[in-house]
Amino acid sequence: MDRVILAVESSCDESALALLAPGQGLTHELVSTQTELHRKHGGVVPDLASREHLTALPLLLRELLPHIAQQSITTIAVTRGPGLLPCLSMGLSFARALSLSFNAQLVGVNHLRAHVHSSFIALHSANPAQFIDMREALLPHLAMVVSGGNTLLVSLEKDLSMRVIARTVDDAAGEAFDKGARLLGLPYPGGALVEAKAEGGDPRRFSFPRGIPERADLRLSFSGLKTALRYQLEKMDDQAVAAAMSDICAGYQEAIIAQLESKFKAALETGNYRSAGLSGGVANNRTLRLRLERAAQSHSVHMLIAQPKHCGDNAGMIAFTAMADAKLPRGEQVIADPSLIVESV
Ligand code: KG4
Repeated sequence: MDRVILAVESSCDESALALLAPGQGLTHELVSTQTELHRKHGGVVPDLASREHLTALPLLLRELLPHIAQQSITTIAVTRGPGLLPCLSMGLSFARALSLSFNAQLVGVNHLRAHVHSSFIALHSANPAQFIDMREALLPHLAMVVSGGNTLLVSLEKDLSMRVIARTVDDAAGEAFDKGARLLGLPYPGGALVEAKAEGGDPRRFSFPRGIPERADLRLSFSGLKTALRYQLEKMDDQAVAAAMSDICAGYQEAIIAQLESKFKAALETGNYRSAGLSGGVANNRTLRLRLERAAQSHSVHMLIAQPKHCGDNAGMIAFTAMADAKLPRGEQVIADPSLIVESV
């Protein structure tokens, strides 16, 4: 019987479970999202989120149980950080209980490293038996992780160690999308809505700041963007804003994407990368996917982009990382760490 990893994710406002058989890939993935619950608060409320995990995780397990031959579960993988402490603790308690009842070992996974690895999931699904060799040929790898809480450029080395080579100095790219959307009266989380409204808009009509201009400085910055949008909106009445919504969203989105693209290109030139990746919630953005794909092509670097279902928070990437990452903490060593950094496994 193939050994199977059962993964638990609960670092923020998604409760998720996944099953992965290393010889077959991900066989089942379930996500329960709390977006509606937090929308009226304009962001995630940690105590509400953790209470939701308490009810959602057992319901997801009940749905998964018919697909689990209990004796085949050898590993329970769980996100141990970074994330919201009450949410991480809820997932960890649940995972610990599962490891006792299935008599399986408990493995702790770093959520940020899982985002980096998520770009490789499709490669593994296509050919599980050859995965290790195929990945070896694609390292070192430059990963761009763009989400609501993080915006990072990470170098994944041949020995699977990771090094952050640049990060945002203020807001994350997803946060910039969400804050801009809020100023425009769009509901939280606003990234996908800004993208939809930007469709057909003229990105040149309104121009917004694009972070730190020096090419050699890989740091990103998005806080000036929302301030510029606020000043722009103050000059317009509601009718004018409504009439120009599509152009405003196109210009705002372009400022975020142009900055990500330019730092991604500059980072590609700093190392001898064989491949590059894009992941995290903002990686759902189709224009961003296309632009980074083209940028990688122009540098003759193979591009791996996480599938949409693996961009936002999900347990598939946690199961995959439990299989694919370097030596991970096990059993009693698995502790929740809300401020875990990329470099720690
Ligand atoms: O990784 P993720 O699901 O979780 C957090 O980090 O919280 O990322 C969520 C972020 C939100 O900021 C959301 O607005 C953004 O990803 N996002 C998008 C798109 N879809 C989600 N941003 C731009 N375009 C999209 N299509």
